[in-house]
Amino acid sequence: MQLIDGKAVAAQIKKEIAQEVSEIIANGGKRPHLAAILVGHDGGSETYVAHKVKACEEVGFKSTLIRYENDVTEPELLQRVQQLNEDNDIDGFIVQLPLPKHISEQKVIEAIDYRKDVDGFHPVNVGRMSIGLPCFLSATPAGIVELLRRYEIPTKGKHCVVLGRSNIVGKPVATLMTQKTYPGDCTVTVCHSRSENLKEMCLQADIIIAALGVPEFLKGDMVKEGVVVIDVGTTRVPSTITKSGFKLTGDVKFDEVAPKASFITPVPGGVGPMTIVSLLRNTLLAGKKAIYNV
Ligand code: GUN
Repeated sequence: MQLIDGKAVAAQIKKEIAQEVSEIIANGGKRPHLAAILVGHDGGSETYVAHKVKACEEVGFKSTLIRYENDVTEPELLQRVQQLNEDNDIDGFIVQLPLPKHISEQKVIEAIDYRKDVDGFHPVNVGRMSIGLPCFLSATPAGIVELLRRYEIPTKGKHCVVLGRSNIVGKPVATLMTQKTYPGDCTVTVCHSRSENLKEMCLQADIIIAALGVPEFLKGDMVKEGVVVIDVGTTRVPSTITKSGFKLTGDVKFDEVAPKASFITPVPGGVGPMTIVSLLRNTLLAGKKAIYNV
């Protein structure tokens, strides 16, 4: 069994991005600038956004954090999005999800100029991804395929089972794994909470991407020998051991599955760190106008 060290790969990619930023600056170019909008004080969102801002500093990007309280109105937020769309210094921006219930996430996502949508959530980017055109790939799926690429894991002709059908992970990663490219060329099965023969599907899988958000869902008796397992779960389970009072728990019962796996990602330290570098990469591409030339 080989552990897929997302933390180490992410550190390497950050170095590569930092190097490129130095070259851009040395050549008189503009420092990439990412803005993030954070609404409210959800613990998970606070942590993710803090990590994103810190990662920007590490690679030499400029970053701007814009905070609102939970009672911000939808028109106020949409107006801010419009301002960011028009701000020439901002190369890309994100609105951290989830948003309070009185705000339509879809409306906000669609208000973002797709050329600055470094989360890759706008329908233009999702649509372009699905037909294999250059676009901002959403961060978690992009991080997963980058891990498969850097570990040179064979994917052509393999059966990949995706657990979960979210717009952010399950659906886009399933799409990427079917693309006629490497990593890709898989036969993909998408299973979800309503799937009836989920265990049988998993037992047939060469690659399992678990993105259900159900802690330790995938057990040892649900996988075959040699399986490649990518664990996207990051549920905060209460813990008396850690200082923070919770423990990040994946969708895979690691102790049971790891002995049967050829490759497996840990939680934490697997997919999580890759998600942030995918966002950095998209911001770099946005700064260079490498995808949309305006
Ligand atoms: N909430 C959970 N994951 C994400 C993400 O990748 N981007 C944004 N904007 N919000 C999230």
